[in-house]
Amino acid sequence: MSVTHSLDTSTSRANPVPSPLKRLTVPKLQAMKGSEPIVMLTAYTARMAQLLDPHCDLLLVGDSLGQVIYGLPSTVPVTLEMMCAHGAAVVRGSWHAVVAIDMPFGSYEASPEQAFASAARVLKETGAAAVKLEGGEAMAETVAFLVKRGIPVVGHVGLTPQAVNALGGYRARGRDEAEAAKILADARAVAEAGCFALVLEGVMEEIAAEATRAVSCPTIGIGASATCDGQVLVTEDMLGLFERTPRFVKRYDDLAARISEAAATYAGEVRSRAFPTEDQIYRTK
Ligand code: KIV
Repeated sequence: MSVTHSLDTSTSRANPVPSPLKRLTVPKLQAMKGSEPIVMLTAYTARMAQLLDPHCDLLLVGDSLGQVIYGLPSTVPVTLEMMCAHGAAVVRGSWHAVVAIDMPFGSYEASPEQAFASAARVLKETGAAAVKLEGGEAMAETVAFLVKRGIPVVGHVGLTPQAVNALGGYRARGRDEAEAAKILADARAVAEAGCFALVLEGVMEEIAAEATRAVSCPTIGIGASATCDGQVLVTEDMLGLFERTPRFVKRYDDLAARISEAAATYAGEVRSRAFPTEDQIYRTK
């Protein structure tokens, strides 16, 4: 069953929504390599998508929603149902950017066929244009299987958070030669298998630069230096919603403090009966 529905502009709380632009396409994004930097942010809700969409080329419904939205300890428990529900919301809230949706842990690794069934469900239920999956050489056959069947794929190598239990943490990758060579081999493998963009997460600058030169698709870095063809951050990190953020995050705001302040002011006004005022109440004439 499709849950894509379109946004009802008469009941939406948002300002009048911008008139629909023609959405960017996967081939247009691919063609940005070597010309314009690709701007990508995560989004999990319709309203956040509305706010970010005019500024972004790609919106990623990341499985980081497990930690950011659900307070889970990692991305491992995230389900296909969660990704479909949030993916559909982001598609409803956007008109311009390509929307890519993370395939959650356990929904694609067993076989190319399992990956196809999961990815087809994601695209049908959300209306998104692409999926993202983690893994290098081991996932190349799966990437090729999906791409040949019409499913655009974003690859993701380097630090792959779904493998946290095997990696033993979230430290940046590629500090020794063997690890660096493996990351480069992973990048080449999924790029040659046909992914249209490649996320490089938490890798040394030299590896990002070499991978960006080596692959024909755009690379999108997160903690992977300015040598990549584009950049992605978790939106809530860059907005300053969390006290602790990794070194590679630049905070563009301090929303946690501002939300806390607004909530404290509201609480004070409720307790002192300063809210609601005449302006916020209904009266019979
Ligand atoms: O899940 C996510 O948000 C991601 C990005 C950080 C690349 O994979």
